[in-house]
Amino acid sequence: MIDTIPRSRRLFRGRAAPARRPRALRYAHVIGWGMEVPSQVLSNSDLEAIVETNDEWITTRTGIKERRIAAQRETTTSLATRAAQKALDLADVLPSAIDLIIVATATPEHIFPSTASLVQDYLGATNAGAFDLSAACSGFVYGVDMAVSKIQTGTVNTALVIGAETLSRVVDWTDRGTCILFGDGAGAVVLQGSDTPGGVLGSVLRSDGSGWDMLTLPTANSRETYLQDGAHQQGRIYMDGRGVFRFATRVIGESIRDALTQAGLTPDDLTLVIPHQANQRIIDHAAKALKIPEDRVYSNVARYGNTSAASIPIALAEAVEEERIKPGDIIALVGFGGGLSWAGDGHRVDCRALPPVVLAHLGPPPGGLRLRRSAPPADPQVAAADAALADDVDSHGARLPAPPPRADQQVARREGRGVAGNGGVLSQCFTSPPLGANAPRFPLSAAAKRYPQMPPIPQLLPPRCA
Ligand code: ACO
Repeated sequence: MIDTIPRSRRLFRGRAAPARRPRALRYAHVIGWGMEVPSQVLSNSDLEAIVETNDEWITTRTGIKERRIAAQRETTTSLATRAAQKALDLADVLPSAIDLIIVATATPEHIFPSTASLVQDYLGATNAGAFDLSAACSGFVYGVDMAVSKIQTGTVNTALVIGAETLSRVVDWTDRGTCILFGDGAGAVVLQGSDTPGGVLGSVLRSDGSGWDMLTLPTANSRETYLQDGAHQQGRIYMDGRGVFRFATRVIGESIRDALTQAGLTPDDLTLVIPHQANQRIIDHAAKALKIPEDRVYSNVARYGNTSAASIPIALAEAVEEERIKPGDIIALVGFGGGLSWAGDGHRVDCRALPPVVLAHLGPPPGGLRLRRSAPPADPQVAAADAALADDVDSHGARLPAPPPRADQQVARREGRGVAGNGGVLSQCFTSPPLGANAPRFPLSAAAKRYPQMPPIPQLLPPRCA
């Protein structure tokens, strides 16, 4: 008779199979980042022609000066794919090495297929699983947490986490309370497993669904009664601005503190906080809540407005380019938004976990590595690594080639043009290709080749923005 019991169970017949030995937890490090924003700029004065508003009101209440608006053929997927390609180029990781793709978005092209599956196909990431994550403006930090958990347990080695939005297509362009706030764009990070302690040190995810109706984007399945109240429309953002403002200022400091506590750190250890870019007044409040100087809280809300799930990875990519992040730094990300949902995490940028191409860009920390810790780290492995790190970084740093000059890139980016032939790693990251008919296509797999033939996306913007 054929024994149908699996061999593994047969070996332990009559006694309990030994518990599988847990693998040692790995550390998850961000090893690449990239961003993509549409080239069309919509300034506050442009908005004056659309709704009754003015630059002075928008600037003083929000800090926003301009935002980017997707062109007709740009989609959440195309922005996400370009940001991802830049992150992969920087990390020097092939698409085939990606195990997992998570796209955080509130503006997917479809409920299914997921935007992540389309990005997976466009990139040719043939070994990756892919899914979208819905947590509004907190989505990117939620996505990083999901990827980190998979990396730490060893089931995934390399993950791509993307935040991407085309909010201009779901904004009510007659509502001056919301249409002035939002913009389009995408940012991406590559996370990879390593035995080097550091990377993402702790994170908290939170939700309070009782505040669901403060910030909504109803779909075709939304309750009819809800849509008949006159304030809400299918496929359009509704927001109780004051309520969301109060909520955001309450949770922004608390979630970072909680995430840092998990890693034995305090806000004094932070080099930089990268908050969701919703409103300059909320960003300023983060500094007050954490009792840190305002220059340790990053802001680019003036240039892009609120890009929801994309805002944190876009800000992260720009912070690196502006040399606000160095090896050895402790940084924190914090997101908040629809749900209501909020999330915060803390990272240590660790030289030994970064690929040489990234290190060449970041450069060694000035004067060697100095970790600003207010208390010894709770994890003994981290403590031991801290002690060993300074020498290692100094010798590693000394071997690094000088980072490419970037002054011209910064000027060029401010002026909205690319820089040809400067050869720097980040020139790939921040040089927007020409859009329209002459736009270079990203490497397309068979299915994606059909994309250019798809009918144009319906133009939802008022003529002035098109
Ligand atoms: N231009 C001129 N006046 C305006 C405009 C405008 N664009 N918008 C509103 N007003 C007027 C209002 O009509 C009101 O006038 P009234 O007093 O005569 O009635 C006055 O300005 C004050 O309006 P408020 O809504 O009370 O203005 P407030 O100071 O609260 O600012 C804002 C509004 C900017 C939206 C603010 O509440 C805010 O930033 N909230 C948080 C938004 C946020 O952070 N969202 C993040 C999550 S997004 C996500 O998850 C997708």
